[in-house]
Amino acid sequence: MRSRLFHYSLLLVLCFLSRSSAAMAAPRLPVRAVNLGGWLVTEGWILPSLFDGIPNNDLLDGTQLQFKSVTQNAYVAAENGGGAGLVANRPQASGWETFKLWRINEVTFNFKVFGNQFVGVKSDGSLVATAASPGRPETFRLVRSPGDQYRMRIMAPNGLFLQANKDASLTADYGQSTSWGDDDPSVFAVTRVTGLQGEYQICNGYGTAKATPILRNHWSTYIVEADFRFISESGLTAVRIPVGWWIANDPRPPTPYVGGSLKTLDKAFKWAEYAKSPSLLAVELMNEPLAPGVSLESLKTYYRDGYNAVRKHSSDAYVIMSNRLSSPDPTELLGLAGGLPGSVIDVHYYALFNNMFDTFTVQQNIEFIKTNYSSDLSIVTRENGPLTFVGEWVAEWKVPNAAKQEFQMFANAQMDVYGRATFGWSYWTLKNVNNHWSMEWMINNGYISLKS
Ligand SMILES: *[C@@H]1O[C@H](CO)[C@@H](O)[C@H](O)[C@H]1NC(C)=O
Repeated sequence: MRSRLFHYSLLLVLCFLSRSSAAMAAPRLPVRAVNLGGWLVTEGWILPSLFDGIPNNDLLDGTQLQFKSVTQNAYVAAENGGGAGLVANRPQASGWETFKLWRINEVTFNFKVFGNQFVGVKSDGSLVATAASPGRPETFRLVRSPGDQYRMRIMAPNGLFLQANKDASLTADYGQSTSWGDDDPSVFAVTRVTGLQGEYQICNGYGTAKATPILRNHWSTYIVEADFRFISESGLTAVRIPVGWWIANDPRPPTPYVGGSLKTLDKAFKWAEYAKSPSLLAVELMNEPLAPGVSLESLKTYYRDGYNAVRKHSSDAYVIMSNRLSSPDPTELLGLAGGLPGSVIDVHYYALFNNMFDTFTVQQNIEFIKTNYSSDLSIVTRENGPLTFVGEWVAEWKVPNAAKQEFQMFANAQMDVYGRATFGWSYWTLKNVNNHWSMEWMINNGYISLKS
């Protein structure tokens, strides 16, 4: 199952689509919206082919690898998770045996350990994980076996290869020649634990120069004016557009991001049928609700500042604040938002991403929407409180081989319940290679209808 791990720092803008200018003056709430995911912010699982041209595209920035010495039959570990030496003596691999790649280019990397230090080679050739930031001693090359992509050797900046010694130590002192056999102490069998495919990964993976035409072509072809017509004719009234924080510096965003997405966003405003961007209904504040260690207090300060910043430009755009996904208390922002006129609380409801759903039947899923998510929503939807928005949901679940009619029941139950959100709801997402995650596919194939 795919996971929606891409709650990147993002700024979300929502446009109102209307066929009459009367509605423009007072946009009708609640909205029925669709997210334009995978457009101005890349998410690999939505459109994997965008990554096809990247060399070593399974070794993108943030990829987590484990290295097993073929001679020692043991995993490489950062002792204590970091702050000490490296060893190759672990029979099993977990956090301390996992190394996160910082990708310099397709063959050159830094390795970040569990405790966030970087692996480096000392002048005596020994390996440690002590550097707070990577420099030359922390920069390695990965060389893949021509016969097996997941057998690799690691070249240290001194030009020599790492080898696993019989005393469990690791040293950067092995020469060029190799048989790639199980008798070679410089050969490691590599396990790829997980990787990321976001905007940073695609820009860094291609390099900005090559990524520029690829992304600009994607922006101008993936979502076009005809999509807005389809959205509006399907009975939807708005779009929620994720945009990256780097768009604030467009057309010259920080390395490695590609400039020009702001111009594309301008087109979206035009397609939403208005002259001077009155189609901007709401701004969702950039946030990182998943980031561990973000305290509620600092999030509130951030939201208050963000709210005031939006108000400097617009007196009537709604300001959307996303609940922290990790928080057990869905009401924690109500006090703050209640004091800021025109603010909206965004909640996301998926019947996924929790083991509980793995065994749910069709009926259990529908009951959960009608009972539990319904109750969750009513807890945050208070009279005289901020408006509420189910900013993400999808008619996808863990039920194997469900029938079309069952998907229809599931989608209808969700639209029924989320229709009670006072600001509205937004499906994740318009287009997706995974059919149920594509509202376009769901509508075109009769799984979802908004016209009843
Ligand atoms: C869902 O709601 C029902 C009825 O209130 C409750 O018994 C059940 O524990 C809830 N399930 C979860 C996972 O919270």
